[in-house]
Amino acid sequence: MKKSSINTQDVLSMRGAGYYSERTAGARNVINEAGDMIFAALVDLPDSTALKIADYGAADGGTSQQMWNTVIRSLREAGDMRQIEMIYTDLASNDFSTLFRMMQGMQGDPTHAYQNHFENVFVHGCGTGFHKQLMTSESLHLGFSATAMHYVSVKPMEISNHVHAVCADVGSKTAFAEQAAVDWQNILLARAAELVPGGRFICLNFGIDAEGRYLGNTGGKHMFEHFHKYWKALHDKSRITKDEYERATFVQYYRTMEEFCAPFADPDSRVSRAGLTLKANYTKLTKCPYSAAFLDASGGMSNREYAESLIPTMRSWSETVFKTALTGREASEINKIIDEFYQAYLDEVTANPEGHAMDYVHIILDIEKTVS
Ligand SMILES: C[S@@+](CC[C@H](N)C(=O)[O-])C[C@H]1O[C@@H](n2cnc3c(N)ncnc32)[C@H](O)[C@@H]1O
Repeated sequence: MKKSSINTQDVLSMRGAGYYSERTAGARNVINEAGDMIFAALVDLPDSTALKIADYGAADGGTSQQMWNTVIRSLREAGDMRQIEMIYTDLASNDFSTLFRMMQGMQGDPTHAYQNHFENVFVHGCGTGFHKQLMTSESLHLGFSATAMHYVSVKPMEISNHVHAVCADVGSKTAFAEQAAVDWQNILLARAAELVPGGRFICLNFGIDAEGRYLGNTGGKHMFEHFHKYWKALHDKSRITKDEYERATFVQYYRTMEEFCAPFADPDSRVSRAGLTLKANYTKLTKCPYSAAFLDASGGMSNREYAESLIPTMRSWSETVFKTALTGREASEINKIIDEFYQAYLDEVTANPEGHAMDYVHIILDIEKTVS
């Protein structure tokens, strides 16, 4: 087993300066569709003088901004004028300054810059990973997280024959599954400590559905197989070394519904004993918005235009993995190789776009901290 020596924080962070949310319409759609569920949970909370809300693994905050703006507007329109404390969490390496600027309408489209629209909304950031308790005990009313908790806290190993655990050999898959189980328990225990009795934690996590589908693998061309194909091609051409080839391992694991629900199914588990119960759980497939726009255009968009919209959305979250694998080279050389890598994928989509898309598969969980 090849041990990892890479700082996972470097491998995880999304590309900064707003690049991530500008090119991630699919993630934004998934979050927007959860708005009603979030609002219903907020209305259902026990009485409190103020509301403390957390958005865990928020990246630059751009993808959830419209949802929070809508939810806060709905609260205000319903006569709820309570003070709201919004805590955005992510890793220390995250681009928090872009996030703070966006919420104040100083960067990007200010339409949903809710700090400009509402009184008594206080925005904070927390740069500590979500596997730990991040705020004072029993102080949080609603925790939310989208598309973030598939990142494992530690890369258990480099996968020597692929880039992602979903396509890995049994031994590698098992190592990632074990790490993900420990992490999920830690995530839940931390939220159990933070939540007030009656508080809620709603998360929309990447996962594997009952039909075995997951991000970029929903019946068409398989995205992770393509990442691997073009990364391996660079190695086969001696553009990258064997070590570099192996170091491109995503620090991710897509849990199944069973894996997500396991801590709740056992009344004696640490999570159940900490007071967390599962109110609802379901899977959701969200079609790739770039593919949908291409199909809707029915000939009005060229293959190349489609490829040039699809590949950047993949690049926004995957690029750091491949870049980090090349650590030690000159920055200009790294950029050249990475451009070559995504260009090869882009050329394939341009030549034959059929089946290429990045559909999302989420497992959605609504968790409650019971009133003891
Ligand atoms: C794919 S982005 C999702 C961003 C946003 N929530 C969305 O749905 O568009 C995943 C985010 O999770 C963050 N992340 C990964 N591991 C984390 C951890 N242990 N603690 C906090 N954030 C983490 C990454 O840095 C990244 O910003």
